[in-house]
Amino acid sequence: MRGMILLVGLLWIAGSDAMLRAEEASYLGIAKCASSGCHGSVKLGNQKGPWDESPHSKAVTNLDGKKGKEYAAKLKVENPAESELCLSCHSTALGVADERLTETFDASEGVQCEACHGAGSAYLEPHKKKERVYENLLTLGLRPLKDVQQQKNNCAKCHGPDERYDKLKGSGHAEPNKMAFDEGMKKIKHWKDKPPGSVQ
Ligand code: HEC
Ligand code: HEC
Ligand code: HEC
Repeated sequence: MRGMILLVGLLWIAGSDAMLRAEEASYLGIAKCASSGCHGSVKLGNQKGPWDESPHSKAVTNLDGKKGKEYAAKLKVENPAESELCLSCHSTALGVADERLTETFDASEGVQCEACHGAGSAYLEPHKKKERVYENLLTLGLRPLKDVQQQKNNCAKCHGPDERYDKLKGSGHAEPNKMAFDEGMKKIKHWKDKPPGSVQ
C-alpha cells in the first residue's frame, strides 16, 4: 500500500513537473523553427514552403490591409494590427509574458508553427535527436496533433464557433465555422503522409 502511494506520488510529481516545463516553454518563432537548416530545408520536408503560401503567414499583415481596415472601421477598432481582439486569432502567443518570447520570435509573422505545435524551447533539442520518443516530446510542450480530435480542437481555437465572433458581427468578417475541417487541412498540408487518424 505504501509503495502504491509512493508510486502515485512520484507519478504526480513527474506529471506536474512536465506540465510546468510545457507551460514555461518559450516561443522561438518562425525564424528559428523554419530556418534554412531546419524546417525550411528540403531535407527536413520544407514545411515553411506551404506555410509561406498559406494565409496563416500573412495573418498579422492582413490586419493592416484594405479588408482588415474596412472590418475594423465598422467595429470602431482603431488599429487592427494592435487590437487584442484581432490579434487573439491572427497572431501567436498573444498575452504571453515577455520573458517567454525569445529574441528570434517576431509577433508580426502571424499564425506561426508554434501557434499549432506549441511553444518550442523545451522540446527543440530533444525533438532533433534520432532516438526521440514522441510521448516524451508531448510532456515538453509539443501538442499531440497526431490525434485527429486534437487537430480539430486546435483549429477550432480560431476557426470554431466562438464568442469573439459575436464581436465581429456586422463588420463583413467571415462567419465562424466557415472552414470545413477536411478542406482546411488539405489547404495547409505540410506533412509527408496523411496525419494518423485523419481523413486525408
Ligand atoms: C475568433 C477568431 C478571429 C478574430 C477575433 C478575428 N479574426 Fe479575422 N479571420 C479569422 C479567420 C478564421 C479567418 C479566415 C476566414 C475564412 O476565410 O475562413 C479570418 C480572416 C480575416 C481576414 C482575411 C480574409 C478577408 O476577409 O479578407 C481579415 C482581413 C481579417 N480576418 C481581419 C480581422 C480583423 C480586422 C479583426 C479584428 C477586428 C479580426 N479579423 C478578428 C479569425 C478571426
Ligand atoms: C495551423 C496549424 C499549423 C501550423 C501553423 C503549422 N502546423 Fe505543422 N502540422 C499541423 C498539423 C495538424 C499536422 C499533422 C499532424 C502531425 O503530423 O503532427 C502538422 C504536421 C507537421 C509536421 C509533421 C510532418 C510529417 O511529414 O509528418 C511537421 C514537421 C510540422 N508540422 C512542422 C511545422 C512547421 C515547421 C511549421 C511552421 C513553418 C508548422 N508546422 C506550422 C498544424 C500546423
Ligand atoms: C491561432 C489561430 C489559428 C489557428 C489555431 C488556426 N488558424 Fe487557420 N486561420 C487563422 C486566421 C487568422 C486566418 C486568416 C488569415 C488571413 O487571411 O489574414 C486563417 C486562415 C486559414 C485558412 C484559409 C481560409 C480558409 O478558410 O480557407 C485555412 C485553410 C486555415 N486557416 C486552416 C487551418 C487549419 C486546418 C487549422 C488547424 C490545423 C488552423 N487553420 C488553425 C487562424 C488560425
